[in-house]
Amino acid sequence: MNLSTKIITISDESMTTEALAEILKPAAALLAADKTVAFPTETVYGLGANALSDEAIDQIYRAKGRPSDNPLIVHIASLDMLALLAEEVKPYAKDLMAAFWPGPITFVLKKTSAVPMKVTGGLNTVAVRMPDHAVAQTLIALSGKPIAAPSANLSGKPSPTTAAHVIEDLAGRVNCIVAGGNTEVGLESTVLDVTGDVPVILRPGKVTQEEIAAVVGICEVDPAITGATIDVSGAAKSPGMKYRHYAPDAHVQVYIGTTTDVIRTFDAEAHRLVMEGAGKVGILTFSEDLEVLTRLIKTDALLVDRVVFISAGSAKDLSVYGKVLFEALRDFDERGCDVILVRGVEEMGIGGAIMNRLKKASEGKVTRI
Ligand code: TXA
Ligand code: MG
Repeated sequence: MNLSTKIITISDESMTTEALAEILKPAAALLAADKTVAFPTETVYGLGANALSDEAIDQIYRAKGRPSDNPLIVHIASLDMLALLAEEVKPYAKDLMAAFWPGPITFVLKKTSAVPMKVTGGLNTVAVRMPDHAVAQTLIALSGKPIAAPSANLSGKPSPTTAAHVIEDLAGRVNCIVAGGNTEVGLESTVLDVTGDVPVILRPGKVTQEEIAAVVGICEVDPAITGATIDVSGAAKSPGMKYRHYAPDAHVQVYIGTTTDVIRTFDAEAHRLVMEGAGKVGILTFSEDLEVLTRLIKTDALLVDRVVFISAGSAKDLSVYGKVLFEALRDFDERGCDVILVRGVEEMGIGGAIMNRLKKASEGKVTRI
């Protein structure tokens, strides 16, 4: 593919709505003309196109190199757009939309005939999200269309959380990239099936099971995403779950345990891997752990210059971990790591979404020590 990609840079995040609209006009015009535009949201960058046009959707799949049976999330700027897409919105789903939209949660609803099968991968349901981001909202509203937008990465790569990631993956493959700042959440939205009597989480994200249950009394989690490893058999209800996702080129190994045990294991495992011929080993763990680890590893002549450290932020605030995870995976690749050792977390709150992505990136190589 060799498209000429227009880059629109949003340098000032706090500009007025009018100024933003002015800058985004050309991008909105491209969307209205069934072209592809990548843009920031509060979760990750999305690769957008008119959700109601088969031709536009084909271009998304082509740009990403993504299998076309993997359904896309449709993004809206206002509730008016929802009626066009969803056949039925149950009362409890309306309560959840009122509580969490605009925001990092996607609702799976029974689709109308206006939604092309290409968007839903042949399903009779459609996934819809109203993002909480000025650029995304303005762009969608200006285009006047519901915008299908998967994460703006090449298929199989970690989702992009910076404009640089998007440019790296998609320059020359899309018509326009809106370059804004780094995304706030860093993990893709929670995907919630609201077609049944009770809500079911198909993909964990920033909005947690506890938060959903607090609004409507109950929230289930699809069995495919609980348990020690991810079910990659293809039986998962959210079809995106069956592909190897979020994966860097390096092999990822995840460890869960006490700080002392994890530090000891990282040190020993890095030593063993380098002895066995690994060029470089990456370590992603809490800043508190790194203080100890960097000192330990400095005393190991074999490991000096062979270990790349990236901080997941403080153990006291897991939202930082969520925000930096995908960027860290890309950075380890860029810095030539063959193996990445990662500290896993308990699956509570945002920890559930972090572990979901880590299980995928490691293809289930999670060890409890
Ligand atoms: O935060 C996000 O959700 C980002 C930003 C750009 O909004 N988008 C995103 O899209 O992550 P994507 O295409 O990478 O992931 C879509 C997820 C997949 O897991 C897919 O299987 C699921 O949503 N999905 C889409 N339509 C569905 C449907 N009708 N039923 C069940 N799952 C669906
Ligand atoms: Mg994706």
